[in-house]
Amino acid sequence: MSTRLKIVLALFIVVLILQLPVFNPEKNYVDADTHVDITDKYEVPMAIQMDLYVACYNCHSNYTEDYPWYYNIQPVSWWMNGHIKKAKQALNFSEFATYPPDTAAKKFENLHKVMKEQSMPLKSYLLLHDEAKLTDDQYQHIADWAKETQKKVENEIDSTKTF
Ligand code: HEC
Repeated sequence: MSTRLKIVLALFIVVLILQLPVFNPEKNYVDADTHVDITDKYEVPMAIQMDLYVACYNCHSNYTEDYPWYYNIQPVSWWMNGHIKKAKQALNFSEFATYPPDTAAKKFENLHKVMKEQSMPLKSYLLLHDEAKLTDDQYQHIADWAKETQKKVENEIDSTKTF
């Protein structure tokens, strides 16, 4: 057997072994307190709730609704799991109500920014998730709402400051 063939064969075996279920990261189903979702503390119009739910919650929440079949293939699973972890660290709609006011204001500001830039959902996600594509109008609505809510939160912070 040529060296090259041996290497290819060895790689093939490694890839096969990685498919064993023990290498699958745990799925993102956190059985968490359901009263700290963004909607438990902030006013989110129904249309925007639906948009966030459809386009963002698979990454930015405690519950990934839609694991596609290819999630069970390595290293796809690690790659996707990495995105979900990073996304949740940056912004978790399921726990948004636990953010202190100054953090929440900052998150709304970032939300406004990425909606203006249309940089979320991730491009790689949109390739396989048509349902998560937002129209210009939807981006604009979410951006306006985020800015408005940011201002409300900041006003509340100011009004509780005593000098
Ligand atoms: C495929 C997973 C995925 C989807 C779907 C997704 N995001 Fe993200 N998002 C990420 C990741 C990963 C990061 C962290 C980026 C980084 O740290 O470089 C992020 C970061 C962000 C941030 C920055 C947060 C901060 O404070 O730093 C905002 C805001 C955001 N996303 C909003 C959204 C919105 C709104 C949607 C839906 C319209 C959405 N994302 C959909 C993966 C996703």
